[in-house]
Amino acid sequence: MPLAADDPTTRCTSGALAALDADLICAPVFTDEGPENLRGLDAALGGSIGRARASGEITGKTYELFFTDVTDPTWRTRRVLLVGAGASERYDTTRARTVAGAAGMAARDRRARRVVFVCRAPGESPEMAQAAVEGILLGAFRDTRFKSEDSGSAPLKAVDLFFRQDAQSQTRAAVERGVLLAGCSNIARELSNEPGNLLTPRVFADRARELVSGPHTTVEVLDEQAIASQGMGLLQGVAQGSVEPPRVIVMRYEPENAAPGPVLGLVGKGVTFDSGGISIKPADGMERMKRDMAGGGAVVCAMRAIGRLTPSIRVIGVVPTAENMPGGRAIRPGDVLTAANGKRVEVLNTDAEGRLILGDALTLAQRLGATHLVDIATLTGACVVALGHHASGLLGAPAAWVESVRQVADRAGERMWPLPMFEEYAEQLQSETADLTNTGGRPGGAITAGMFLKTFSGGLPWAHLDIAGTAWYETTQPFHTKGATGVGVRTLAALAFEAAW
Ligand code: BES
Ligand code: MN
Ligand code: ZN
Repeated sequence: MPLAADDPTTRCTSGALAALDADLICAPVFTDEGPENLRGLDAALGGSIGRARASGEITGKTYELFFTDVTDPTWRTRRVLLVGAGASERYDTTRARTVAGAAGMAARDRRARRVVFVCRAPGESPEMAQAAVEGILLGAFRDTRFKSEDSGSAPLKAVDLFFRQDAQSQTRAAVERGVLLAGCSNIARELSNEPGNLLTPRVFADRARELVSGPHTTVEVLDEQAIASQGMGLLQGVAQGSVEPPRVIVMRYEPENAAPGPVLGLVGKGVTFDSGGISIKPADGMERMKRDMAGGGAVVCAMRAIGRLTPSIRVIGVVPTAENMPGGRAIRPGDVLTAANGKRVEVLNTDAEGRLILGDALTLAQRLGATHLVDIATLTGACVVALGHHASGLLGAPAAWVESVRQVADRAGERMWPLPMFEEYAEQLQSETADLTNTGGRPGGAITAGMFLKTFSGGLPWAHLDIAGTAWYETTQPFHTKGATGVGVRTLAALAFEAAW
């Protein structure tokens, strides 16, 4: 399937709103402000804001939408949308992103292709402007690749961020970053949404080559032979039930004149379809497991962003990709596999496949020179039970590295929440036969999965992001269509700049 449509042209503008030629001007409106704050706009709308305020049609409640016509004949844009943004003192970058997202979504649904967003919050900052443009582009995303019928909705062509004062160069740079990061997140969403019959491991690897190769980034793909010579028995074991061969996507970002120093290693789970294998999953909802490569997609798209944002440190991305299928050649419960680091793993449940392929990929990332590791995976249903859909699980060691990742994620607007890694949890992985098992049973399932991965972290600073609950929305949100979210792209890219080494 073709890659995402071109990003819309984005500009920072100021001056007179009346002069902007667009299909829709969007502005946030707060619960704690009166129409007098919007006097200029209201005059052009023939007083409709004042009337709607008085009648209670506009309250400023988050994501409330109010469309109205421009009556002033001198204005070039004829239509305005006010988006409820809640209380002004609670309007932070996260809120700015979702409120702008609601505007992007509404614009797209109403076939507006040239959109203006008025940045008018009390605490406007470059981060706020970046969040707003991210929100618009994420909210306007639709995945219609597999619909033959034209849904009548067309992608945005132009987005203008309008500021009261001329935008400073910092704001312009932040907006540019936002456009890139939202674009890369949307590509990750397309990869995740792509069905398993089309996005096989080999196709995924080809996609990574197209998406990531560039002046500072190289992509190398390990095939079956290369995987065997690395001794990646856990990955081979998971893949052997499928007719589709596994791949390992290795992406390297080398800045110009790189000094010796930390090398960030990003590792993402790339299971293109997870049937559960012989420990097969129930049929109901199994189709969602086409998105079990969301972590790998986030790493690929973060590497694309990093190659364009050019941080000063080296970054290595490793995505092990395979299909987990039952079949005559599939691994059985009770099988013992030998990992790339020599550890022997007893497979008690073939559905705990993500940790297997990640274990080998963490070993490979170390061999390739990573000094700091972050892995990202739709790893456990238990994490969804623990944290629901509003935060990704965060595990790892040492605490300082984990906290640094958490803070970067927070600033990127991707909430992550720590789970404990007390030594006692590791006892649940003790095997009668081998060095360890691949499941610790139901209690603390997200944590024991993390304990398993820790065995493969080689004692390096390592953080594990469990995105099982955050990689897609089950229902459409006011600011985001249902389906893949692209979670992780923004955090992983930001890590290359902001992590505390
Ligand atoms: N890919 C799944 C986890 C998952 C579940 C992701 C729901 C997104 C939504 C993973 O491979 C898996 O099957 N995990 C098992 C582990 C168990 C067998 C120890 C699980 O969570 O049930
Ligand atoms: Mn599974
Ligand atoms: Zn899985």
